[in-house]
Amino acid sequence: MRFGLIGAGRIGALHATTLASLPAVNGLVVCDIDRGQARAVADRVGAVAVDTLDEMLAAGIDAAVVTTSTSTHASLIQQIAAAGKPVFCEKPIAPDVAGTRAVLAAVQQAGVALQVGFQRRHDPGIAAIRAAVVEGRLGDLHLLRSCTHDPAPPPATYVATSGGIFRDCAVHDFDIVRWVTGREVVEVSATGTNRGAPYFAEASDVDTAAATLTLDDGTLAICTATRYNGAGYDVRLEAHGSAGALTAGLDARAPLPPAATGEPYTGFGERFHDAYAAELAAFCDLVTGTGTNSCTGEEALAALLVAEAAELSRRKGRPVLVEEVPR
Ligand SMILES: NC(=O)c1ccc[n+]([C@@H]2O[C@H](COP(=O)([O-])OP(=O)(O)OC[C@H]3O[C@@H](n4cnc5c(N)ncnc54)[C@H](O)[C@@H]3O)[C@@H](O)[C@H]2O)c1
Repeated sequence: MRFGLIGAGRIGALHATTLASLPAVNGLVVCDIDRGQARAVADRVGAVAVDTLDEMLAAGIDAAVVTTSTSTHASLIQQIAAAGKPVFCEKPIAPDVAGTRAVLAAVQQAGVALQVGFQRRHDPGIAAIRAAVVEGRLGDLHLLRSCTHDPAPPPATYVATSGGIFRDCAVHDFDIVRWVTGREVVEVSATGTNRGAPYFAEASDVDTAAATLTLDDGTLAICTATRYNGAGYDVRLEAHGSAGALTAGLDARAPLPPAATGEPYTGFGERFHDAYAAELAAFCDLVTGTGTNSCTGEEALAALLVAEAAELSRRKGRPVLVEEVPR
């Protein structure tokens, strides 16, 4: 199969390396508005570089991977879907609920598959917790704790257009809480603070946040996020039930001394290297019809609705029902 990849930045360069290594992929076309960036990545992985989406689509691709900046995802997905090609897109589909729904409608109309990049679903530790929950090995689930702690804040330009810490960052935790439990989030109570750079407050955002989610069976999930975890990149999940508990991500490289003893993870590329590779292998299987969709657009929308509820709760200073979120 021949794949197209559009957006040769941080995550795009990583995905290009993975795609070039997959046995099912025997041709790769890399596109970026920054011509030098597209060529640098293409040359490194033995791919062809092009300048525009039209050129990428005309190159005879079987499927496309979208790893451009967030604000471009919705339009690119719709154009690729209209060309009849299956799409893998990094989160988010669109910055808001209305935009996401419009893309989902266009994808459905085009009759193509859309897989969204919530790669934690492919993390072996998190998948093992899900399996234990599904098989009832933890008994009745009572509490989940999920965290996304970045080692250092992104630049002001990124924060200004990120949509805020819940939509940009904790949305991964919200997706994983739904996926691991198979339950829906009913209510969110969230708060946040700023003790770091002033550009968070200037963007009406926070640098550190916590959200308590109440699931439809009464299970509680506590999600925390910070842009200032100087010890390293820390993504962990704990599940506590009446018959046992499991944790994911507390390995030697977790930035939590003295429990962890190795070189701390510096970022998502290291922590989720294998999960990113697994999600693209799964997308290949989806394209060839040998696998199922590991994260549909509807699943991504459900996680976004929780993030919207969290943002609303933080701003209003009260618990918010997910069904209150404007649809
Ligand atoms: N799943 C994850 O863990 C994860 C991690 C990092 C980033 N992301 C997502 O991936 C996306 C990219 O993030 P990044 O950190 O790699 O950004 P980045 O800024 O490093 O790269 C984006 C690239 O897209 C290119 N680009 C922008 N608009 C384009 C267009 N219209 N056509 C072609 N190329 C275009 C830019 O020139 C740049 O090279 C974001 O939406 C982000 O939310 C997801």
